[in-house]
Amino acid sequence: MTQTSIIVTGGAGFIGANFVQQWIAHESATLINLDKLTYAGNLASLSTVESNPKYIFTHADIGDFDAVSALLAQRHPVAVVNFAAESHVDRSIHGPGEFVRTNLVGTFQLLEAVRAYWSALTVDARQRFRFLHVSTDEVYGSLQPGEAPFTERTPYAPNSPYSASKAGSDHLVRAYHHTYGLPTITTNCSNNYGPYQFPEKLIPLVILNALAGKPLPIYGDGLNVRDWLYVGDHCTAIRLALSRGRHGEVYNIGGNNERANIDVVRTICRILDELRPAASRKPYESLISFVADRPGHDRRYAIDARKSSDELGWRPAETFESGIRKTVRWYLDNQDWVQGVVSGEYRKWMEKNYGVREAT
Ligand code: NAD
Ligand code: DAU
Repeated sequence: MTQTSIIVTGGAGFIGANFVQQWIAHESATLINLDKLTYAGNLASLSTVESNPKYIFTHADIGDFDAVSALLAQRHPVAVVNFAAESHVDRSIHGPGEFVRTNLVGTFQLLEAVRAYWSALTVDARQRFRFLHVSTDEVYGSLQPGEAPFTERTPYAPNSPYSASKAGSDHLVRAYHHTYGLPTITTNCSNNYGPYQFPEKLIPLVILNALAGKPLPIYGDGLNVRDWLYVGDHCTAIRLALSRGRHGEVYNIGGNNERANIDVVRTICRILDELRPAASRKPYESLISFVADRPGHDRRYAIDARKSSDELGWRPAETFESGIRKTVRWYLDNQDWVQGVVSGEYRKWMEKNYGVREAT
């Protein structure tokens, strides 16, 4: 009998790598990680699983129909979990093309390959199969203070090229269920943080800039609000959605941890003051620098995760306080990983995005 397997796309990225590690630790099925290894894909994040017999890596693009079809035919997975995406809002403002290519057209090609594979399965196997699409709360647009959190029925209103491309991919997934009966599940999650996050995103960027004595750039007035979820809790929710989620359904996932950006940054500064005081003995908060805002910056995201809690039995294990402390500690303890990431490409991005942002 062949070993049961699943294919994960984008498993060398931040959430994908955390998911792969969690899967290998808790599940018996083999995991095949298909990743294009863009600037955001990092095999060093998978060093703990690379020689595990349940783990296989394939270097490919989700938009390569032939490569994906060949892998499906070879491995016969019972599920495909799609993490692969261009994920950074600021990069989507500088260059939206790659976001349309991977998030929209790439997801379309992936769906086509999966549909062809799934259509040829036995009735039983078709019934058991799952295509889980990992998406974001940003597709719902922006909330004003006091407005009710996003539910699965909130109309889509994406505001950035990133969220528009993700919204398009969500619609394709929905259509493949509705039209062809493909057993899909979509999860829409809030802001993740934790180990292995590429330091272009707010939390790791602030940790690393603070340690280097560099300015901590806060866009606009710093009062934009995000709902923060520890990455391990997101991965648990995805595993539960795979095993318990209903075909064609959408599940919102969130941490119930709404924080203004300035408060997130101050919290990180205080933890660093305690764990790794600056040589100058100045509090890290003195490095905070308000800079020009992100164009089209969404004001607030908040998630109503009751459906995930009721139907999947999911609840986050970490509070923001416990998760952020773990995260700061992880970056302090994993300087080898950090040094491998802060390469020439990263320096070019920092220059492109922040070089033109005057302090306000
Ligand atoms: P990431 O940018 O860290 O990683 C993306 C991964 O996808 C990388 O390994 C990259 O090499 C790979 N990839 C990119 N294009 C590819 C392609 N064409 N073919 C194959 N692989 C490709 O992203 P992340 O933060 O880990 O996000 C993963 C998923 O979760 C994305 O779909 C994102 O939209 C979604 N999401 C992210 C967050 C968050 O806070 N980071 C929150 C909610 C949802
Ligand atoms: O909400 C889920 C989304 O969260 C995911 O879909 C995206 O893939 C992920 O990147 C994240 O998007 P955000 O734009 O919210 O994350 P980012 O870390 O880039 O920014 C968080 C907030 O901090 C946002 O309001 C912008 C602000 N910010 C960000 C950076 C990089 C700053 O003030 N300064 C910065 O330098």
